[in-house]
Amino acid sequence: MADNEQKPTTNDAGIPVSSDEHSLTIGPDGPILLHDHYLIEQMAQFNRERIPERQPHAKGGGGFGHFEVTHDVSAYTKAAVFQPGAKTDVLMRFSTVAGERGSPDTWRDPRGFSIKFYTSQGNYDLVGNNTPVFFVRDPMKFQHFIRSQKRRADTNLRDHDMQWDFWSLSPESAHQVTWLMGDRGIPKTWRHMNGYSSHTFMWVNAQGEKFWVKYHFKTDQGIDFLTQEEADKLAGQDADYHTRDLYEALKNGDHPSWTLQMQIMPFKDAETYRFNPFDLTKVWPHGDYPLITVGKLTLTRNPTDYHTEIEQAAFEPNSLVPGIGASPDKMLLGRIFAYADAHRARLGVNYKQIPVNRPHAPVNSYSKDGAMRMDNVTDPVYAPNSKGGPKADPSLNPPVDTWATSGDMVRSAYTLRRDDDDFGQAGTMVREVLDDAARDRLVSNVVGHLKDGVTEPVLERSLQYWRNIDQNIGDRIAQGVKGN
Ligand code: NDP
Ligand code: HEM
Repeated sequence: MADNEQKPTTNDAGIPVSSDEHSLTIGPDGPILLHDHYLIEQMAQFNRERIPERQPHAKGGGGFGHFEVTHDVSAYTKAAVFQPGAKTDVLMRFSTVAGERGSPDTWRDPRGFSIKFYTSQGNYDLVGNNTPVFFVRDPMKFQHFIRSQKRRADTNLRDHDMQWDFWSLSPESAHQVTWLMGDRGIPKTWRHMNGYSSHTFMWVNAQGEKFWVKYHFKTDQGIDFLTQEEADKLAGQDADYHTRDLYEALKNGDHPSWTLQMQIMPFKDAETYRFNPFDLTKVWPHGDYPLITVGKLTLTRNPTDYHTEIEQAAFEPNSLVPGIGASPDKMLLGRIFAYADAHRARLGVNYKQIPVNRPHAPVNSYSKDGAMRMDNVTDPVYAPNSKGGPKADPSLNPPVDTWATSGDMVRSAYTLRRDDDDFGQAGTMVREVLDDAARDRLVSNVVGHLKDGVTEPVLERSLQYWRNIDQNIGDRIAQGVKGN
């Protein structure tokens, strides 16, 4: 068939149809017939086009590319994806957190920075944000935090009073809120922001030595941001500004990239480090653990079908390959349950058989059946068996990506260490990282936020929260809000 020759329309069974425009009626002016199954297929399919959106991170976009190792880090991990010379296909998705699928890209929010590495040892997912820290440090508070950022029950409106109520009653949020209210809270585009694992993970080398690590994907496009005014304007003019920017860049062959650098902490250091290195509300100062370059992540290709390749993409922090493990960060441990559960609810139990989620490595699992299974299952369907079924590798037992722990079962905060406090690193950012102009914009952003519907006693508590971060900044914010 010539390229410009149109293919005949068929129904979903591949049967040619006689009209794209007219339903079957009794005479041109008569009623529609129930047995017009093609019309019914059109209407029924349409009614089922939407799948549930992700609970958080509903609005996003992404693309495909690769990760290439440029520096030898085999002393720290045996993971195939990070061995010298390795080049691995990746899928990436960027997102906002609180807004729904149609919400503006330029609302102030952290941005998701999700990567699926299709490695030779199975899928490795790193589901990070464009910020190195988070608002809470216990998964029990995550659901409450997200609800406080979304919509009220009565008005169905987002509500700054609710947001500051939660934040000011949760002092561990101070570092992330300072970051959010600063310039990086509205990146210019997804290409102009960094990505961080935020969590501490474990790396294990071929000799079984363990290290604690944090990932930093530094944008090669340079950091850039939108002011509140620019973002507000764009929210009205082009709600899909960031989605469009990435799509256009990839279409035009302008391939964005990020350099992966790691902070690596010797395993033993964690026991005596001056603050809990697994606390997600803190960074490891670069002076203590300098960045080590690993490689480059490059996006090269747009999806051709947003729904099947981005909306149905399923990232999960539990997908860790040999050489990479979890850490005692309670948030990470909570997330290791949450994502696969979300995918089963949103996409169905066989979500890993959707092409974009399929590992590029062979799958020899004993999972079977369930709704929408695509792959045939072959016998034997049980283990152990003497019928030639897959067999687990005893050399992986005992697993090496573990740590020792003991104690009574408690519901308790992390044990405090010398430098564990909620406001210290936020204060350092305000005083030592931001320049005068960035501090002015921070004050202006917070004042604008607090003046928009925050009532007593939440307001006074929020002003004290800022004075705890930095007395001077707190006083300036109070003056801006109250004009005294
Ligand atoms: P450094 O001076 O080595 O690092 C400061 C870092 O701050 C920079 O490297 C940059 O991170 C980041 N930064 C610069 N401008 C902004 C901004 N407007 N908003 C948010 N982050 C910005 O000092 P330390 O490592 O001792 O950290 C000091 C403080 O810097 C921390 O308390 C933390 O608030 C902040 N920070 C630290 C990071 C870390 O991993 N150590 C990462 C990000 C922030 P980058 O190079 O990643 O862009
Ligand atoms: C999305 C839960 C913390 C980054 C999601 C989703 C859930 C969830 C259920 C939707 C998944 C889906 O339907 O596909 C949680 C829980 C957390 C937590 C329970 C804490 C206990 C974090 C943290 C980060 C993060 C700390 C970043 C470091 C993301 C990203 C997405 C996401 C990037 C979007 C993934 C995508 O692109 O599809 N989260 N989250 N989350 N979360 Fe979290």
